[in-house]
Amino acid sequence: MGFTPFKMERWQSTYEHRVDYNLSESGVHPLTVGELLSYSDDSVDLSAIRLGYIQSNGSDELRATIAALYPGATDRSVVVTTGGAEANFVAFWELAKRGRPVAAMWPNYMQVPGLAHNFEGGVLPFSLREDAGWRPDLDQLESALKAGAGFVAITHPNNPTGVALTPGEIDEIVALADRHGAWILSDEVYQGAEAGAEPVRSFWGLYDKVVVTNSLSKAYGIPGTRLGWCLAPDDMAERLWARSDYTTIAPAAVSDVLARVALSPEVRPKVLARTQGIVRRNFAVLAEWLASRDGLFRCTPPDAGAICIVRYHAPIGSEELAERLRVDQSLLIVPGAQVGVESTMRIGFGPPEDELRRALGRLGAGFDGVLA
Ligand SMILES: Cc1ncc(COP(=O)(O)O)c(C=O)c1O
Repeated sequence: MGFTPFKMERWQSTYEHRVDYNLSESGVHPLTVGELLSYSDDSVDLSAIRLGYIQSNGSDELRATIAALYPGATDRSVVVTTGGAEANFVAFWELAKRGRPVAAMWPNYMQVPGLAHNFEGGVLPFSLREDAGWRPDLDQLESALKAGAGFVAITHPNNPTGVALTPGEIDEIVALADRHGAWILSDEVYQGAEAGAEPVRSFWGLYDKVVVTNSLSKAYGIPGTRLGWCLAPDDMAERLWARSDYTTIAPAAVSDVLARVALSPEVRPKVLARTQGIVRRNFAVLAEWLASRDGLFRCTPPDAGAICIVRYHAPIGSEELAERLRVDQSLLIVPGAQVGVESTMRIGFGPPEDELRRALGRLGAGFDGVLA
């Protein structure tokens, strides 16, 4: 079996810094170090940070700070990683059973499905059904488990749709996994970036075979720290830590300090409020713009994150559309084909509002060209 590239990440990493407008990003406009530190009354002297290897599963203080966010967790439940990407990688590596497929939510961010292909187990998708407002098809999940899926991969809230599972759906997924003795890997990086008032419920604490992954990239708006974590029962956390000895050894020393600031009881609510404010205001801008285009677009409002899937009614494949927008309009979007839904585009609406408005102007001009 050949290598399956991570098409969306490659598309973004090749072009996102080379276009005028980037609507391919799934986070909000990132904070500077100075902005982050300004949320705290304590002063942090970055110049005094010694650039050695730190405790390789994250400093004791950071692990305790993360554990405090999850009822029943302790610092032994946490493995700090280099981004959610490494967290997902070590979790996948530990949970994947040789030759057995993964039951993966679809559409998807595609990291875990790509790994499943590359490690040769393959994927049994269970759909979020667009006609039902992206609700999960749990009969498909049950079929995947009956067909021998090694574990269940959830992205909750989902990338690309931004839709979160309801408490009832979460309970049903846990019950199905339990019936088949399967682990659940719940990637929760968009938790905390809610559009509504209710926080999204974590899978943590609902089942004894859960690994939760998360990071500072989306809800906290500081992806450049490249800091994430796995949360798991103690013995599983030990095994994940052992895997990370092979990947990055330890998180970056500066990022561990910045993470302690971002996740502190003083700063965390302010950072999350900033993100949620951007998500709410900017989605309203996008929704108004989409509606102004007379039935050309359809979009289910996301529950969390600065992303949504927009279905367009125009005679062009999503990859050709994205390439035309990039070349003709210097605008980057994610073609739906890269996240598992053709004739759609994933729009990231996290840039500053004036930039978002100008980018939508380019998107409109691009569609005018397609429809001419
Ligand atoms: C669902 C999901 N998981 C994980 C990641 C990886 O993010 P990071 O490594 O920046 O935490 C992303 C990034 O877009 C994502 O959307």
